[in-house]
Amino acid sequence: DMADYLVKLEKQFTITPQRMRMIVDSFIDVLDRGLAEKGNEVPMLPTFVFGWPTGQEKGSYLAVDLGGTNLRVCHVELEGDGKFEVTQTKYRLTEEQKLSDAQGLFDFCAECLDNFVKDHFGDDDGNVDLDEPIPVGFTFSYPCEQDRIDHGVLIRWTKGFGAPGAEGEDCAALFKKGLEKYNVPVKLVALINDTTGTLIASSYVDQNTRVGVIFGTGCNAAYMERVGNIPKIKDLGLPEDALMAINCEWGAFDSTTHEHLPRTPYDVHIDETSNKPGEQAFEKMIAGLYLGEIFRLIMCEMIDEGILFLGQETYKVEKPFVFDTAFLSLIESDPTDELLTVTGLFAHFFALDTTIAERQFMRRLAVLIGTRAARLSACGIAALVSKQGLMDGDEATSEGKTIGIATDGSLYNKYPGFPQRLEEGVVDIFGEKGRAIKTYHAEDGSGVGAAVIAAMTKARIDSGF
Ligand code: BG6
Ligand code: GLC
Repeated sequence: DMADYLVKLEKQFTITPQRMRMIVDSFIDVLDRGLAEKGNEVPMLPTFVFGWPTGQEKGSYLAVDLGGTNLRVCHVELEGDGKFEVTQTKYRLTEEQKLSDAQGLFDFCAECLDNFVKDHFGDDDGNVDLDEPIPVGFTFSYPCEQDRIDHGVLIRWTKGFGAPGAEGEDCAALFKKGLEKYNVPVKLVALINDTTGTLIASSYVDQNTRVGVIFGTGCNAAYMERVGNIPKIKDLGLPEDALMAINCEWGAFDSTTHEHLPRTPYDVHIDETSNKPGEQAFEKMIAGLYLGEIFRLIMCEMIDEGILFLGQETYKVEKPFVFDTAFLSLIESDPTDELLTVTGLFAHFFALDTTIAERQFMRRLAVLIGTRAARLSACGIAALVSKQGLMDGDEATSEGKTIGIATDGSLYNKYPGFPQRLEEGVVDIFGEKGRAIKTYHAEDGSGVGAAVIAAMTKARIDSGF
């Protein structure tokens, strides 16, 4: 019955502090391996973003942000002193756009940018007359191999994307082709990942920032590494003491051997039925694209076993991916004793009546899934922080020090209790000194990050580095 099921699920989904520390240790090894040589499971991608911003970067920039759910176009005005203004327009991507012809997708990005430029810089007829093209940063949040900042070869699509014609190609070039088609008066100066954008944008306003993490449709992190610690780029002859941001692509952790993460049969099912089986094992246990589906798979199993929704038509909930992660947020935040929000949710979206026992079960289940996601994420953060030596010296132990983890994404921003669970997880791993690690939302990470990086890149190129 339901109670037995809950006991079983609790076993499967609970991650003890001891287990977390084991995951952290293996995570650190994998991160090191990714820096040592190319083509590793967690690719630790050099970004060609060199060092931290000063906070004094200034100027007018455009940013195009192709995330996992939306396409955003922003105009960012950097004012220096860590201040900025952002104006943006958002477009929802269709499933069709995610899966059909890549050039079409990049053309759409260019078309949206074109309309934006006409609206914001054009006269009443949409004619744009500028002295020089506006610099644009392209936040393209998929794993790209870069050997300079304005180019990026897509290693593989993630987050359910699959548009043919992009993997193995330079996506900056594909986007440029689109820009040419529409004759947009802009110059693409940088292709960046959303995690790198978040890291840099946050550092622009807060110098405690050490790691940038996205908890959204996907999950990934970036941090700043010494070039001397990146053996695989030795050949470039860059100064050993220079700093370069690394886009970890940690979502790929444990995808090859599955020896470190406690995957459940539901995780395995999600992986095997996804458009990219055998990839992004870590991300598939954490990210917003998948949490609702994990919940739904468990419900379906219990429907099959005659435990939930007895005697009712359940076909509506049996369709893959109909159970959005936002529903888990709603279930967890229902303020009423009888869980009336949950009642309404099931009645409205799935035409299902629920008993109070069922609703209480759902709430427990949401807590299990959401907590596991946060605790696994804490392992990733702990690995990155340890790896940088930030827990060794005074940084962690001295009073009032902050190791800043800048974050963005719907899971962090909207899932109730997610930030608290994340920080609790970190304390479970490190003990009290883990409290030095603070997570916070980075305001407009990708847009501002793209702008700051474009400004930094211009300054670097002008200086001849
Ligand atoms: C946004 C960032 O705020 O968060 C994007 O600007 C990022 O670059 C996104 O990809 C991630 O969140 P979600 O929930 O949209 O995947
Ligand atoms: C996926 C992408 C990664 C991105 C993350 C968050 O993991 O591969 O590049 O940073 O989602 O959007």
